[in-house]
Amino acid sequence: MTLNFNHAYNIHLRKKENSLFFKQWIKHPGRLGTLAPISVRLATSAAAPIDANERAVEIGAGTGRLTRALLEKGIHPHNLAVVELDSSLTTFLKKTLPGLYDGQTPFPHIIEGDATYLDTLIPAEWVGTVDTVVSAIPLMYLEKKQRLAIIDAAFNVLKPGGRIIHVTYSPKSPIEFSTAINQTRTASLWMNIPPGFVWTYTQKEVTNAQTEGVTQYEAQRRYS
Ligand SMILES: C[S@@+](CC[C@H](N)C(=O)[O-])C[C@H]1O[C@@H](n2cnc3c(N)ncnc32)[C@H](O)[C@@H]1O
Repeated sequence: MTLNFNHAYNIHLRKKENSLFFKQWIKHPGRLGTLAPISVRLATSAAAPIDANERAVEIGAGTGRLTRALLEKGIHPHNLAVVELDSSLTTFLKKTLPGLYDGQTPFPHIIEGDATYLDTLIPAEWVGTVDTVVSAIPLMYLEKKQRLAIIDAAFNVLKPGGRIIHVTYSPKSPIEFSTAINQTRTASLWMNIPPGFVWTYTQKEVTNAQTEGVTQYEAQRRYS
C-alpha cells in the first residue's frame, strides 16, 4: 500500500482538519472533548501496539488523524472500520481518507453512527472477531451510563482476548472496572498539549476446570 504523505499535502490537510474540528467543537463541545484534533505524536502512540494484520474498529474518528496513524501502521483498509457520530466529520473522512492513497487502494469502512450501537454499525460478520477497538471518544465528559454503554458495546464486538485502546486527556482512567478487567496505562505523554494518555483494557481469562478447560469471560462483571 503506497501512502501519499507528501509534506505540502499534510500541512494543507492539517489546516483543514483543525478548522473543521474547531467549528464542530463550538457546536458540540462535550462531544468533541477538545478544540483540536489529537496530536500526531499521541495518535502514533495509540496506534503503536497494533499489528498490521489486525482487524480494528476506531470509534470517534473525528477528522481522521488517528485513522491515518492506524493506516500508517500498515492495517489494511479492508480490516479497518471507523465510526463517527458527527455527519460533517464523516463527510470529511470520506473525502480525505481516499486521498491518502495511490488511487487504487481501497479505503476503510467509514460509518456514521453512535458507537453505543457498535454491533449494528460494523459489518455483521465482524462482530466477535475484532482484535482492537480504538477509542478517542471523550468518555470522561459523558454521563456514567453512556460511558459504560460505549465500553460495553466495544467489548461486545471484540474477539476473545481482544482489547480496547482508549486515548484520553486525563491520567486517570474514565472507567472504574472490576477485577475482571485488566486496565493499564500504556502511554503517558505529559508534554503533549494537553497531556495525553493511552489506556488498554482487556478482559481477564477465567479458566474453569469444571467445564473441561473451557475459557470463559466475565462479561457480566466488568464494573466495580
Ligand atoms: C476527541 S475527538 C476525536 C479525535 C480524533 N480521533 C482525532 O484523531 O483527532 C472525539 C470524537 O468522538 C466523536 N464521538 C463522540 N461521541 C460519539 C459516539 N457516541 N459515537 C461515535 N462518535 C462519537 C466526536 O464527534 C468526535 O469526533
